[in-house]
Amino acid sequence: MPDYQAFHRRSIDDRDAFWAEQANRIDWQTQPQTICDYSNPPFARWFEGGTTNLCHNAVDRHLKDRPDQIALIAVSTETDTEQTYTFRQLHAHVQTMAAALLDLGVRKGDRVLIYMPMVAEAAFAMLACARIGAIHSVVFGGFASVSLASRIEDASPVVVVSADAGSRGGKVVPYKPLLDEALALSSHKPQAVLLVDRQLAPMAMTAGRDHSWASLQTKHHNAVVPCEWVDATHPSYTLYTSGTTGKPKGVQRDTGGYAVALAASMETIFCGKAGETYFSTSDIGWVVGHSYIVYGPLIAGMATIMYEGLPIRPDGGIWWSLVEKYKVTVMFSAPTAIRVLKKQDPALLKRYDLSSLRALFLAGEPLDEPTAQWISDGLGKDIIDNYWQTESGWPILTIANGVEKAPSKFGSPGIAMYGYDVKLLDEATGEELHGADKKGVLVIEGPLPPGCMQTVWQDDARFVNTYWKSVPGKLVYSTFDWATRDKDGYYFILGRTDDVINVAGHRLGTREIEECISGHPNISEVAVVGVADTLKGQVAMAFAVVKDASGLVDDKSRFALEGEIMKLVDQSIGAIGRPARVRFVTVLPKTRSGKLLRRAIQAVCEGRDPGDLTTMEDPSALQQIRDLM
Ligand code: PRX
Repeated sequence: MPDYQAFHRRSIDDRDAFWAEQANRIDWQTQPQTICDYSNPPFARWFEGGTTNLCHNAVDRHLKDRPDQIALIAVSTETDTEQTYTFRQLHAHVQTMAAALLDLGVRKGDRVLIYMPMVAEAAFAMLACARIGAIHSVVFGGFASVSLASRIEDASPVVVVSADAGSRGGKVVPYKPLLDEALALSSHKPQAVLLVDRQLAPMAMTAGRDHSWASLQTKHHNAVVPCEWVDATHPSYTLYTSGTTGKPKGVQRDTGGYAVALAASMETIFCGKAGETYFSTSDIGWVVGHSYIVYGPLIAGMATIMYEGLPIRPDGGIWWSLVEKYKVTVMFSAPTAIRVLKKQDPALLKRYDLSSLRALFLAGEPLDEPTAQWISDGLGKDIIDNYWQTESGWPILTIANGVEKAPSKFGSPGIAMYGYDVKLLDEATGEELHGADKKGVLVIEGPLPPGCMQTVWQDDARFVNTYWKSVPGKLVYSTFDWATRDKDGYYFILGRTDDVINVAGHRLGTREIEECISGHPNISEVAVVGVADTLKGQVAMAFAVVKDASGLVDDKSRFALEGEIMKLVDQSIGAIGRPARVRFVTVLPKTRSGKLLRRAIQAVCEGRDPGDLTTMEDPSALQQIRDLM
């Protein structure tokens, strides 16, 4: 077994040879000619000349050795259903879906927007797109009409795939009315909408536009749709994520580099083996769902579980019961979910046979030590924190036990993964910070390794300006996270440098929430900040200035307005964006040049020292917030 440091060093110093070897992990129709073309930085073109297909690598490739092994397990504790699909069956369903999409006019390079609950058909749709070379754009089902509309507008899909409804905590959440609203708001109109009817909610069908999956399924039953061999650099999907501005960015991923990176990570990081079962509790609407519910495990020949439901329903043992039933070996979740489980009866951790499970990976937000300790003690398994981003597509920092076993350190997601030339930079000078325990901005020297974002969908300039221009005169990728590194090379993440907040592992832009609240007729200005929360990691707090305060005479009227604003956020962004509180002030803390002092507001909300306030225009503004908190 090579030592990890040498493995990592080689991935940087002998980059092309390293990744040429990794490329052998997947099937190619045509072998790549150039491993990495970085002649036009920061745009990296991986495996040029190669042609391949993600769906082939995830599904067809396994038909030879494991056709009757389970590939997909769709479990819903919302509808009390459990359905398994072998690789052969998955292959058939994906081809039927691919035939349906072709029938509706989708062609290679076209976008297909997928707005779906966690049902098997969502995975069929993703894989079907990959199969025919269409670019999918999955939008998290928790987003409401305005968020959905902006993504439809940007992705300009030929077809939207959706469903009548999802369900959460036993409550039906209709999707179709939100989709109809979004389609009315968007200036882009798809040619067709493909709808899966779960018979959870009534669906109004628009003639000529809306098609039912059931009838297309019958029509294309037994369809044979060969994989379209696409260039390694052909976009496989876009996934929208929040940043500093109100407009979400379409993170664009390639095909060949992504397949190689996932295949490598499955062995070196997750240590998952073909024939075993992988259980990621995430949602297909997030990057974890793309990489480690759908593509990664399937590429590795593992069965993957898609779970619809809460972690505590019917009780807090549900996930562990699935581990027992399907002999899960690798599990992936988020710290928030573990904090939720921590509030349940600890005996639930002991009720099921968890002997198959080797490790639990946690990502998406900081893993606090008490939570890590609790789950580590309770399970008696490796708990592996891993740090990455929608942009990277696979872990940037963790430990690669499949290369060389390394200890975890509580509070640290780990060391730099191979392919990532990670550095810490001094924010003020842009100089690299050497030595231990210095706080800096976590950056990655280009080229980004395979699997990372290629660009921002249809906006190369935004890719360059957003990610690569934070240090004057230097072209380095900024993660927008603060971090330190200890003497052993372990990193510690200290929070975002921008206006992104992380609520229960969900990445949200405070600007998006502010833009939405500003749309209320009686709000003139608003500041949204993330405030530390013991359960969700962070929650959003809003401070708003009202235009006409004459109606705000007592708590009752203030509550009423707060309720209206929350409803507005629910309806346009979705409940995930809803602030924990909306408080009313007469003035917001700003610098004399008019810049909102979000960081000072956040500090006051968290009971910390707001720091240097000499540039603040009106000191009473911060006092109002202090009084409210
Ligand atoms: O701030 C970091 C935080 O989540 C951000 C990325 O979120 P997202 O694009 O949704 O991707 C999540 C992929 C797992 C990062 O910039 N973050 C992610 N993982 C960790 C983390 N913060 C601390 N520890 C982590 N393990």
